[in-house]
Amino acid sequence: MDDSKPGNSRLLRLPYGKLKTMEVREDDIFLSTYPKSGTHWVLRIIASILRGSDIDATGLPAPEHPFVEIMLTEEDDDPRLLLAKKNDGHPVNFHPNMMKSPRLMATHAPYDLLPTQFHEKRPKLIYVARNPKDLVVSAFKLFGMPPFHVYDEFPQLLEEFLAGEAIANMGHWGSHVLDWWKRRHDNNVLYLKYEDLRKDPRAEIQNIAEFIGKDLTPEDIDKIEHHCSFDYMKKASQDDVFMKAYGWKENPFVRRGKVGGWKETITVAQNEMMDKYCEQWLKGTGLEFEME
Ligand code: A3P
Repeated sequence: MDDSKPGNSRLLRLPYGKLKTMEVREDDIFLSTYPKSGTHWVLRIIASILRGSDIDATGLPAPEHPFVEIMLTEEDDDPRLLLAKKNDGHPVNFHPNMMKSPRLMATHAPYDLLPTQFHEKRPKLIYVARNPKDLVVSAFKLFGMPPFHVYDEFPQLLEEFLAGEAIANMGHWGSHVLDWWKRRHDNNVLYLKYEDLRKDPRAEIQNIAEFIGKDLTPEDIDKIEHHCSFDYMKKASQDDVFMKAYGWKENPFVRRGKVGGWKETITVAQNEMMDKYCEQWLKGTGLEFEME
């Protein structure tokens, strides 16, 4: 594909200019992740906490609590993002300004590209990081498929990732996770890891609730844990709007949900390259990931 032609870019064209100038409210709650770090899962957990435990059983929470980048997409932006917006159930002119407070919004934008007002208003931001081995495999399962179809083969994605490039144009993983790691002690930031959520979801649900100032009873936590469990979400996501719209056989937003699932895909040689990459980016930072 000829990347030089507008509208014909292999990588996604994200409306980062509009994100920079977006209006931010003090009571907003942002969920920030590098793609494939468990965004939809944590979005659902936060949404359930905000609602006081009950969340409808119709699958993923994207339509109600969507991605800012997708909400800011307009007619002249990347057609793949516009299609995602329509499939989320939003009219083309839907804008975050139309949302009632408190707004819960997810973003994959790197730190430097966040709205300028984010730094002035300092709303709460929950960051979720995931080990990069499971992440790259999970990323291929999404970005190798329609409507994005940015990669034909897994090694192509891995090569770009290891070269310090961004998956599908979402910013570089190493700086993404580290930019927030450095700010993890800021009072408006909660830094979580996918692997910890997998290990002890109750503790992390409680942790998130405390951070956003919500009291939960043990019964609330039981409900949230159940409604946000992998098995529950997997079942609910089997026939959601995305599956029908894109003709997916498996929903890439709720797929395997494992820590260490990368072993089925990543070869010994690729794993060595990943280890080197991790050492290069994470050594001395104190940020570590469980890989299995
Ligand atoms: P896998 O592809 O490794 O299975 P995102 O929402 O950021 O796109 O992340 C998608 C990843 O989160 C997928 O990983 C998906 O299976 C996993 N996931 C979704 N819901 C989950 C849940 N309830 N528990 C654990 N993992 C979940």
